[in-house]
Amino acid sequence: MRVITFGTFDVFHVGHLRILERAREYGDFLVAGVSTDSMNYSKKGRYPVYDQNERLQIIQALRCVDKVFFEESMELKRHYIESHLADILVMGDDWAGKFDEFSDICRVVYLPRTPSVSTTAIIEKIRIPKS
Ligand code: CTP
Repeated sequence: MRVITFGTFDVFHVGHLRILERAREYGDFLVAGVSTDSMNYSKKGRYPVYDQNERLQIIQALRCVDKVFFEESMELKRHYIESHLADILVMGDDWAGKFDEFSDICRVVYLPRTPSVSTTAIIEKIRIPKS
């Protein structure tokens, strides 16, 4: 079974590791789509802290990840699922329901997020307040 997942994976943290490890357990091959800097800018109005090549390299180095690619656009999800021959799409439950439209081409699974950690929270924590 081939599993696919998507994310920005900026400022890599244990919540990212856990979703990737759990996604991999759903099959025997995990493909991870890493969103590009420009996709993040158009979605959130800011660039990630780590650029897309750094984020891709970190995800690629993980034992639980078999293949990585750049996700250039949210609108291409169906294309990515099909072209990577994915049987199962796994996402954190902050996305619950959002990808149900793809259940005609793969199984769609939402896993509980790891509590109390996010990239946004880490950035807030380390931001030096301006005096
Ligand atoms: N994720 C998770 N547990 C967390 C944080 C993220 O399971 N504590 C999952 C998300 O549900 C998603 C994947 O990791 O499936 C990538 O999430 P991403 O948006 O890159 O990470 P966040 O930490 O949620 O980033 P941000 O705070 O910028 O939204």
